[in-house]
Amino acid sequence: MKKLKVGVIGGTGMVGQRFVSLLADHPWFELTVIAASARSAGKTYAEAVGSRWAIEVPMPEKAKTIVVKNAVEDAEAIAAEVDMVFSAVDMKKEEIKALEERYAKLECPVVSNNSAHRWTPDVPMVVPEINPEHLAVIPAQRKRLGTKRGFIAVKSNCSLQSYVPALHPLKDEFGLNKVLVCTYQAISGAGKTFDTWPEMVDNVIPFIGGEEEKSEQEPMKLWGKVADDHIETAVAPSVTAQCLRVPCSNGHMAAVFASFDKKPTEEQILERWEKFSGRPQELNLPSAPKQFIHYFSEDNRPQTKLDRNLEGGMAVSVGRLRPDTQYDYKFVCLSHNTLRGAAGGAVLLAELLCAEGWLDR
Ligand SMILES: NC(=O)c1ccc[n+]([C@@H]2O[C@H](COP(=O)([O-])OP(=O)(O)OC[C@H]3O[C@@H](n4cnc5c(N)ncnc54)[C@H](OP(=O)(O)O)[C@@H]3O)[C@@H](O)[C@H]2O)c1
Repeated sequence: MKKLKVGVIGGTGMVGQRFVSLLADHPWFELTVIAASARSAGKTYAEAVGSRWAIEVPMPEKAKTIVVKNAVEDAEAIAAEVDMVFSAVDMKKEEIKALEERYAKLECPVVSNNSAHRWTPDVPMVVPEINPEHLAVIPAQRKRLGTKRGFIAVKSNCSLQSYVPALHPLKDEFGLNKVLVCTYQAISGAGKTFDTWPEMVDNVIPFIGGEEEKSEQEPMKLWGKVADDHIETAVAPSVTAQCLRVPCSNGHMAAVFASFDKKPTEEQILERWEKFSGRPQELNLPSAPKQFIHYFSEDNRPQTKLDRNLEGGMAVSVGRLRPDTQYDYKFVCLSHNTLRGAAGGAVLLAELLCAEGWLDR
């Protein structure tokens, strides 16, 4: 199979660096363009990123010499050069919306990590194991944009990538009706390291702007249905969330409480988690974890540092399932926020789009 040429806009940032490292040796995609702001444009990728490189593995040799383009001013040239772009720019929401739509209208599909288009009704927001059928809304979006090939698809927020997968295989069968979740989120989720955010050493901050709303509302779009030209959001279960920033480099943890109309047994829950596999596993996509949910029976797992990199940071770790006095059950979930929760989740979505023919020329 001929590799698709791909670009990363916002490639010099925290999430962009993840994209660059995941795409360096990808079997289906060839990274040919990296773009960022005017501050980086014209420099080689190595010069533009310099000491900001925050990934545990070295910067890929192939990326070092790529000359960074301007994601805004060079949009037409970039769209002409690549088959699709990944978006990880950090700009004002309205600017991101307009920029992503501009690439789509230039017939360059966009897979975005940003929140800007998550609530655009005809933009699919997809976790490939959970709602791959939402891609069916793309023709309606193309009609609105007046494109033949271009469209935008997005992934959901990093905070919910651990607990929504654990709730999903229980939701319909057992009538999930009420969820309370507290998240413990790593500093890379704010694009920071301990060097750039020293206040986070030995500290917890009980506020992450906009995160609780996203954690409560985005699951409703994931669990929604395609209705003609838009995604109709689900109305249940009710989800309430508190999101805390904790002193970890990577890995978002969630303490979850859940109640059901038909309370399952612990064995039934463990069996549904063990058997949960979706389109990515069926299609054997390159970035898909073999086992999506890993359950740990040890009392002190999952642990952020030990378990965030499971299956290349693409699997979800779950543990501590037990009955609760106010809800039916409580348990703990963990996922890597810049892999499954950001760049890795977007690359998996692009693989799904590719395997299902949405990126064909
Ligand atoms: N970090 C996470 O775990 C995470 C998870 C989910 C979603 N997100 C979202 O993903 C986006 C990127 O996050 P991040 O943490 O990677 O941010 P970041 O480290 O601050 O990187 C921002 C990127 O955007 C580029 N940029 C900024 N202003 C620009 C402009 N005017 N024109 C073109 N490019 C511009 C920057 O280029 P320069 O280097 O040239 O300045 C850089 O490449 C944000 O919207 C964030 O909310 C992040």
